[in-house]
Amino acid sequence: MSYPKVTIVGAGNVGASAGLLLLLKNLANVVLIDVAEGLARGKALDLMHMRSNEKFGPTISGTGDYADTADSDIVVVTAGVPRKPGMTREDLLDVNANIVRQVIAGAVPASPNAIFIFVTNPLDVMTNLAYKLSGLPKERLIGMGGVLDTARFAYAIAQQTGAAPGSIEALVVGAHGEAMVPLPRFSTVNGSPLTDVLDAEKIETVVRAAVQGGAAVVELLQTGSAFYAPASSIAAMVEAIVTNSDKTLSVCAKLEGEYGIDDVYMCVPARLGTSGLQQVVELDLNAKELAQLQASATTIQASVAALG
Ligand code: APR
Repeated sequence: MSYPKVTIVGAGNVGASAGLLLLLKNLANVVLIDVAEGLARGKALDLMHMRSNEKFGPTISGTGDYADTADSDIVVVTAGVPRKPGMTREDLLDVNANIVRQVIAGAVPASPNAIFIFVTNPLDVMTNLAYKLSGLPKERLIGMGGVLDTARFAYAIAQQTGAAPGSIEALVVGAHGEAMVPLPRFSTVNGSPLTDVLDAEKIETVVRAAVQGGAAVVELLQTGSAFYAPASSIAAMVEAIVTNSDKTLSVCAKLEGEYGIDDVYMCVPARLGTSGLQQVVELDLNAKELAQLQASATTIQASVAALG
């Protein structure tokens, strides 16, 4: 059986966990690449040692050389410094921008036809930067943020309602940060909109839990930021792409007039397939939701401008 080739740049907590899930789900042969070559090779070897127990089909290897990533179908970029307690994602701006510059210089020439998924924070700003630097078409350069925020919103809804995870469809759009926009009207429990299921106060509680979800993990860990749910969100996007699913997920995508927003990357629902981003889905937002989304875009544009 031949598998797609997925390179994961950054063999840290997020990257290695994503590699693990891609193997367990039999989705792709994985190459882990890191400036710390031994880390990438060591984690890949450790993961391969699982193979006879878990019986997965694909393989994983580690490297420090972009030549080994050549002709990947998908490149996932998780290289970067994670948050520490008290830091916002924006505090990571300059250091991670330099890392993203280095990654693009190595990964894009090696896999010019790949679909790139950026994960490094602050996500929206890094994805905007990557688009400008890489010359890749917007269909093949997206970011992971909305799937994760949506998963955290769904968890908060499950906690509040007691509903089974499988009966909840949630949706969060906008910036991957404090300015994210959870959409209760477009989130359902057993098919009913959240606005019919919970009162305004409880909705406020679950919205706050989604927005604060990442920070809550950072506060508890004390040494870094979340990685299992981010890895699971990466795997969901990779799966949607490699299976040509046409599935709609909230991803960081370049807007060109959709929602009255132009020339900025932010999280919106979009259909994914083997060509990458197939189409941004335009929801029928009300005036308040639209204003929140546009305010979210303004915060991203300000950070992008600050980066120069
Ligand atoms: N090229 C390749 N790898 C790099 C580079 C680079 N230029 N710079 C740093 N790295 C690697 C580090 O060596 C480290 O192994 O990136 C890895 C990051 O791993 P962690 O420190 O464990 O961070 P992690 O929790 O995985 O988060 C990575 O994802 O969610 C975001 O905010 C998070 O931006 C952070 C990124």
